[in-house]
Amino acid sequence: MARKVQFVETVLRDANQSLIATRLPYAKFESMLETIDKAGFYAAECWGGATFDVCLRYLHEDPWERLRKIRAKMPNTKLQMLLRGQNVLGYSHYPDDFVKLFVQKAVENGIDVIRIFDALNDVNNLKVAMEATVNAGAIASGTISYTTSPVHTHAKYVEMVKELKEMGASTICIKDMAGIMGPQEAYDLVSAIKDAVDMPIDLHTHSTTGLAFMTYLKAVEAGVDIIDTAISPFSGGTSQPATETLAYALRQLGYEVDIDDAATKAMADYFKGVRDEFIADGTMMPKAMATDTQCLTYQVPGGMLSNLLSQLKQMNALDKFDEALAETPKVRADMGYPPLVTPTSQMVGVQAVRNVLDGQRYKTVSKEIKAYCRGEYGRTPAPIDADIQKMILGDEQPLSGRYADSLEPIVEPTREKLAGIAKSDEDVLSYIAFPNLAEKFFEERKAKEENMATYTIVEA
Ligand code: CO
Repeated sequence: MARKVQFVETVLRDANQSLIATRLPYAKFESMLETIDKAGFYAAECWGGATFDVCLRYLHEDPWERLRKIRAKMPNTKLQMLLRGQNVLGYSHYPDDFVKLFVQKAVENGIDVIRIFDALNDVNNLKVAMEATVNAGAIASGTISYTTSPVHTHAKYVEMVKELKEMGASTICIKDMAGIMGPQEAYDLVSAIKDAVDMPIDLHTHSTTGLAFMTYLKAVEAGVDIIDTAISPFSGGTSQPATETLAYALRQLGYEVDIDDAATKAMADYFKGVRDEFIADGTMMPKAMATDTQCLTYQVPGGMLSNLLSQLKQMNALDKFDEALAETPKVRADMGYPPLVTPTSQMVGVQAVRNVLDGQRYKTVSKEIKAYCRGEYGRTPAPIDADIQKMILGDEQPLSGRYADSLEPIVEPTREKLAGIAKSDEDVLSYIAFPNLAEKFFEERKAKEENMATYTIVEA
């Protein structure tokens, strides 16, 4: 019997985030939700990552309401979100009570699958979110942030997978955020994990370097169960490879693919129009759609290269680009080879630029790097260079335990603080995650409601 390969459609989250900075408002995809629901995806990734932040900041949408509306129109497909472990959706660690309530409410509002990752692959940062996901009755997808370094061996990844399984993960995701995983690496890593555990494996990559189709193909040959793809008009470049193309190719190779072609055709026809609007207004830039092999040469994610460029430009030091680029892997090695993903990618990049511009390494250090050296981001893949750590921390001792253990509960005090303003625990959670944005959003919402109330009276 043909082996089945399942698809996660990313147009509503990762493709939206990678190509148009998450600017897709609910109204622009509402009419497609029933079609997406019929297309036969394993899951639709639609929440988490930057969606929460951008909803409040730019789209003037309540992220919770957006999720409930998607849920209502998609009763048959699992809804998936991306969660940054103890960071939830932010860039620093939150107390456990917030992580637990956030996960519980995400599931109550419609999420079925939570993909939980940590920038350092420190399982201690995944524990609370994983447990909360299992307790809420959702699928915990334990995630490896994929990177390459002398200490990131397949044996290490397999060890991590076993720990994730013990924590309650029912699927494993290999998350190649930079699109640097090649076909042979995919084949070898998926085989190694499949040999070690009997669990569904999902591979997530990006088309950035052009490897993705080949990487998926070899991963499928090695037994991967689920791949992440984007409907064609929102595929390619910094997004995922195209859904329809992979469905076509995998079927031709004899795999079972339960994707409804009429539904994906309708989705593609519709999203072409949406894409064209975002091209016309300049939100979708041709650069994001193109193949860029630079990351293969530099082993630095594409997003980091453009950040380096813009930092140097601001400081009128574009001539230092090559030097900063060469310094980046050195800083990464000093810091114990963190995977370069938010927030570590920013921290390492900024430090590399500092080291080059100061003409002296670690003369100036950001407060984030200092916190990182104190252990506030968790256990690093390899030890931080001892001399550099000592130079940065001085007499301060690094943490030995889990940083979140030192944080005071935040939910109850925030409930009290927002009495009369917050209408629900969801509001309280939005406020804890993004206080300024949420406050502004609550004010806007109130003004809108008062306007509508006046309008209703006049009408009556
Ligand atoms: Co991604």
